[in-house]
Amino acid sequence: MIRVYADLEALSHAAAGLFAAEARQAVQARGRFVAALAGGSTPRRTYELLGQEPFREMVPWQNAHIFWGDERCVPGEDPWSNARMARQTLLDHVPVPPEQVHPMVCNCAPREAAEEYEAFLRGFFATGRPQFDLVLLGLGENGHTASLFPGTSVLEEQQRWVADVYLAEEGQHRLTLTAVAINQATLIVFLVSGYGKASILWKVLEDAQDPGSIPALLIKPADGKLLWLVDRNAARLLQP
Ligand code: 6PG
Repeated sequence: MIRVYADLEALSHAAAGLFAAEARQAVQARGRFVAALAGGSTPRRTYELLGQEPFREMVPWQNAHIFWGDERCVPGEDPWSNARMARQTLLDHVPVPPEQVHPMVCNCAPREAAEEYEAFLRGFFATGRPQFDLVLLGLGENGHTASLFPGTSVLEEQQRWVADVYLAEEGQHRLTLTAVAINQATLIVFLVSGYGKASILWKVLEDAQDPGSIPALLIKPADGKLLWLVDRNAARLLQP
């Protein structure tokens, strides 16, 4: 399902409204709302909107559990940190209990950090499946999502829920939920905005090649829903 919005502002309002609706529905049905946040720049405005009226009051923050889809292995206050961005834009402005916010911490060896986060997730999801109620994702111009990058071995991962990735082009490690974990979610939402994303969005949605070259193609919910919230600039190459 693809929804096209006039611009990033309209897309962000829709995403904030969807986040709030999913949160309320999950809490009503299961007593809690478990979300994995995306990093990068596109979701910033969505997070800002969720941290202020009217959206802030729409979300049952007391019952929310916040995870991340990926994180760069940098100190918590590093401008590159996805958790820092989410704190500044959202989490410092809403009453989610601190013990229910679970950043990916990578201050030890990346492999150990990935294993620790996975162990926590396996304890948190007693069913044995990482059934996030909502996973937010972005899309990189090279087709990556979370930290599932083209040509990395994590794309073949079939068992682990969390993996460590070394990105030579960035000279840094990252932690990421694997496609195996993401695909167990009840709802997966891509947020894609901007002229520069039109080509990759077309390749993903209308010219699907092998996931090895376009990792976002690995994202296929096992029994949940997949939604694309895109703006007009990003959608300009799509069939009307
Ligand atoms: C990250 C993100 C990454 C991001 C895409 C798109 O940590 O970098 O999780 O997957 O979503 O790179 O980033 P933009 O939204 O900045 O275009």
